[in-house]
Amino acid sequence: MTSFSPARVRADVPLFHRLVHGRPLTYLDSASSTLPPRAVIEAMDRYYERHHANVHRGVYLTAEEATADYEGARAAVARFINAPGGAEEVVFTKNTTESFNLLARSWGASRFGPGDVVVVTEMEHHANVVPWFQLRDSHGIEVRFIPVGDDFRLDLTDVDRRLEGAKLLSVTGMSNVLGTRNDLAALARLAHDHGALLAVDGAQSVAHGSTDVARDGIDFLAFSGHKMLGPTGIGVFWARRSLLETMPPFLGGGGMIADVRTDGFTPANGVARFEAGTPPIAEAVGLHAAVRYLEGLGPDVVEAHERELTRDALERLECTFAGRVRVIGPRDVVDRGGVLSLDVEGVHPHDVAQVLDQHGVCVRPGHHCAKPLMRRFGLAATARASFGPYSLPRDTDALIEGLGHALALFA
Ligand code: ALA
Repeated sequence: MTSFSPARVRADVPLFHRLVHGRPLTYLDSASSTLPPRAVIEAMDRYYERHHANVHRGVYLTAEEATADYEGARAAVARFINAPGGAEEVVFTKNTTESFNLLARSWGASRFGPGDVVVVTEMEHHANVVPWFQLRDSHGIEVRFIPVGDDFRLDLTDVDRRLEGAKLLSVTGMSNVLGTRNDLAALARLAHDHGALLAVDGAQSVAHGSTDVARDGIDFLAFSGHKMLGPTGIGVFWARRSLLETMPPFLGGGGMIADVRTDGFTPANGVARFEAGTPPIAEAVGLHAAVRYLEGLGPDVVEAHERELTRDALERLECTFAGRVRVIGPRDVVDRGGVLSLDVEGVHPHDVAQVLDQHGVCVRPGHHCAKPLMRRFGLAATARASFGPYSLPRDTDALIEGLGHALALFA
């Protein structure tokens, strides 16, 4: 039984102890990057102070400790997402974007040719769009899009036709613009019924609810450490072992080989094949600490907390601004996370964000690396507020107060 307290999580995050522009920090940009708790920072400090060495190379004590730390992180991640094949299915990358490039350029490029079909959705981050367009340009594949309806959810009315002949359906677990959560188990069944596999962008969902690749029937999963209270510079690519074993290396160099001769090379077996060069070791240690921290909070409890915050914020935005602040995303909190993309009447999102900054409120203005989705709703940008496990109702107070100032100033 977890005794989750968002105020305690907040107290654990050193960044909340500083002032910005003389005010307490109101951090509403967790969809961009979450703030790490002290446990993560201290784990990385301890690693550098006590154990640092390169991994899988030295035979001395600290090198063995560093290797054990690095591999321990892999095992923890496997447990966190319930990987059926354990640590041998978890590849460390730089971030979600690199994980999708690995999927496209290794799994995709080694089996796709002209006419092969990859289906994505209109609500994808560019990380799950551009690598497929690159494959279209190099291999002649076809990229199809599932549209987003006026209710800000996937419009599946024509999905059977779109999935016809597809090899892969690649979708986000939660939209970084709309907050819409997708039903991954249902999408996995749909994909599999059409003979396709399911890849999931978990960047926005892993820290805000439970992730279970076995339960949901997912085939590939990508996510980033820094969006789950961990450090930047580390991401995860997970694939079912039977798929991973068929994938050729993506990046070449040290650490990923079994042998190199003057006439060629033989790649290493297992996940080492995908981890060329010195990997992000301290970052893996930090990610392990973040996983432990999130497990201690309880993913379902975090999800419920953020749902309540979102419900409250949606109601208060509506009743305070009576339509002058439009939320680009579902109005209810069913299958929805804590991302609020705001279109403020008569005020450019960058101006909104600047006024909010003066009040210590951090939001992200822009297209959020989701240009097809922005085009779908006829917008160039939004000002996006997003919650994390440390968010409190007083963050919504500060947001509403700041939005009031922005409207008074510009509109
Ligand atoms: N993908 C991150 C975001 O949505 C950077 O802000």
